[in-house]
Amino acid sequence: MDVQAMQVKVSPQFAVKKDFLHIADFSAEELQDLLNLAIDLKKEYFNGGNAPLLKGKALAMVFQKPSLRTRVSFEMAMQHLGGHAMYLSPAEIGLGQRESVADVARVLAGYAQGIMARVFAHEHILELAEWSSVPVVNGLSDYNHPCQALSDALTIQERFGKAKGLNVAFVGDGNNVALSLMHVCAKLGWNFTIANPVGYEISAKAVEIAKGIACETGASLAFYNDPHEAVKNADVIYTDAWASMGQEAEAAKRDEIFAPYQVNAQLVDEARKDVIVMHCLPAHRNHELTDDVADGLHSVIFPQAHNRLHAQKAILARLLGGL
Ligand code: CP
Ligand code: NVA
Repeated sequence: MDVQAMQVKVSPQFAVKKDFLHIADFSAEELQDLLNLAIDLKKEYFNGGNAPLLKGKALAMVFQKPSLRTRVSFEMAMQHLGGHAMYLSPAEIGLGQRESVADVARVLAGYAQGIMARVFAHEHILELAEWSSVPVVNGLSDYNHPCQALSDALTIQERFGKAKGLNVAFVGDGNNVALSLMHVCAKLGWNFTIANPVGYEISAKAVEIAKGIACETGASLAFYNDPHEAVKNADVIYTDAWASMGQEAEAAKRDEIFAPYQVNAQLVDEARKDVIVMHCLPAHRNHELTDDVADGLHSVIFPQAHNRLHAQKAILARLLGGL
């Protein structure tokens, strides 16, 4: 099924009011508003703890794939806000196999006040949202990773402030993480460049969406095959796994194709002096990111991972807490 055609079925009002499925569903103002709330909730947490905004509320967390950050950060976010999270493993639910997606959505909506799901097929996230009467949060699909992008925008703003015109360079596969990062950059007025091997581009329709957004915000978009071109003047260098979950059989082939796209000290030296290096993690060390860079002065990979907690609290507070 065509992902963008499906996206059209979700009216902006429906998506904004009820679910968190795609960065592009939200206006720049709404995204900044979520980021401001994340900053407030982060301060509140470190100043003695969050108010129990989600007291008595439960989040059902449906996973078709493994996770460390998404699972733990959502579970702790619910706990810090006074609520409860339930982890539902791939083996337990059998989404779309043991039971139809529509039935799972309608059953869970009677037990929990929100559903967070990590799926293979993006259409399953859309179907959950369509059939669930409670909010659905996209915890990653093969198409996108909007919670990651919102959290990453928080990390970038913490380092560089809210000014437009930052240069964000993604080096590697035009995957789910790259796609959501491109959309959040376009929304927030940051210039986005990507360098990927031929044949590993971000979906053309997602690029068209980004171009439309960039026209409104003044962001620029540039697409390269040469990583050295992409990182020139970069304030942020971002990379991710060369083989995503579900592509394990292609890992050896991808290791060869992507070898020139490794983020190493030499590439980082070609960017701005105060460049930050980001990775959504899990990292395949000394493949897409060398140890010295991952653990070096430019790296923000751990604060970046920790910001998942704070950004997702903002999403949960808005969608489940009525904030
Ligand atoms: N970045 C991220 O989503 O990590 P997990 O796969 O561990 O959740
Ligand atoms: N692109 C990676 C992101 C993991 C958080 C994947 O989909 O496996």
